[in-house]
Amino acid sequence: MLADNIDEIITDPATYADEALYHQTFAELRRTDPVHWCNPAQYHPFWAVTRHADIMRVELDAANFLNEPRQFLVTIDDQKMMEEQTGESNFARNLVAMDNPDHKAYRALTADWFGAKSVRALEEKITELARETVDRMVAKGGTCDFAKEIAAWYPLRTIMIVLGVPREDEPLMLELSQKVFGGSDADTGGGEGMTSMLEAFAAFNDYFGRVVADRLVNPQDDVATLLSTATIDGAPIGEAERNAYFLIIAAAGHDTTSSAISGGLLALIRNPDQMAKLRANPDLMPQAVDEFIRWTTPVKHFFRTAVADCEVGGQAVKAGDSLMMCYPSANRDEAAFDDPMEFRIDRKPNRQLAFGYGPHVCLGQFLAKMEIRILFTELLARIEEIELAGEPAWVKANFVSGLKRLPIRYRCEGAASVTGG
Ligand code: HEM
Repeated sequence: MLADNIDEIITDPATYADEALYHQTFAELRRTDPVHWCNPAQYHPFWAVTRHADIMRVELDAANFLNEPRQFLVTIDDQKMMEEQTGESNFARNLVAMDNPDHKAYRALTADWFGAKSVRALEEKITELARETVDRMVAKGGTCDFAKEIAAWYPLRTIMIVLGVPREDEPLMLELSQKVFGGSDADTGGGEGMTSMLEAFAAFNDYFGRVVADRLVNPQDDVATLLSTATIDGAPIGEAERNAYFLIIAAAGHDTTSSAISGGLLALIRNPDQMAKLRANPDLMPQAVDEFIRWTTPVKHFFRTAVADCEVGGQAVKAGDSLMMCYPSANRDEAAFDDPMEFRIDRKPNRQLAFGYGPHVCLGQFLAKMEIRILFTELLARIEEIELAGEPAWVKANFVSGLKRLPIRYRCEGAASVTGG
């Protein structure tokens, strides 16, 4: 039976910090009301689409299900505040907010750069970073908060390389992106929701404005130069669109990946047989990475809006209705995965939907997978006997969320056992 307050549970940021509650709630929805009309007090209503097949169908049909005007959950009050403060009804015209023909044109600007083949050119640099990251763990002497001290920094550094921005600006980038995504959690975003998010947007824009000014006079082989000089139909792209592009790459590229990394490690710790299997079979790493991503599903939803009256999963959807694609639910769908509640590093096939699907499928998916593969290869080769040293905790956020605390104890290569002293 669905809880009386199901609509509040679906939207409450705290649900996303409680894996058991989330998966229990959405398993029930998939079984009894897979396309559920959700009308919570604080948000405009929408359909919660919970099954793998329905999400794929909606995302593939980009002509009938648009990304404008609604991309993710924003409370009615926050929406009002944003309109008053910015005069805009949307945050930024980035790829996620665009539909065709603009989406196609703007995505094409960087599609090659982020393609599977091109990101391989970064392999050497990312391997160096992964070594440095594991050195950092070794230097901590056998205990650390893996989420905060390790997993948050490595993807951030990767994105800095991709964008071509200097290392001394990393703390600022980290703080800003956590404000954008973790706004409703007091530990990460300051707990001020929309205010914190808008401040972070403004600070990002200032920052990238300076980067562009530099690249126009000092072009380099990086995405910053590509975006600074990009043209569509022979005309330079607008400043708002360019800033929004920087922002989506900077922000979408690391909180997501760091959540998959820390959540992947926690899953290995909780499933020692899987950890042992992976250590014994490093060739399974690419499959394991897909399973880390399925298991954690750091992006909790995106929205689409129906162009015309239609049917989705047996429900009559009206033109203008919005639909929430519930990715973590799709990734535990019994119809799409064998034993979906089991974490298996050798799962094959693994049609995980954590990167979305169709024309908007994650631009950074090959980069993210490569980063995670390289880090775990390095980490498992040098760090042994990894175990929990305290209770893990998750960010309370209903859009992008993952572990904010993962205290671990471990033995570094050549050192004495963690338990044996
Ligand atoms: C594990 C890590 C990541 C996850 C789980 C993730 C997830 C997602 C999801 C669910 C979408 C929306 C897809 C859809 O609407 O169908 C998306 C889009 C996007 N992601 Fe990622 N992402 C990750 C890493 C990255 C990285 C490293 C980058 C860096 C470039 C990135 C950049 C983007 C961009 C630019 C879009 C918008 C694409 C578009 O609308 O055309 N993401 N991502």
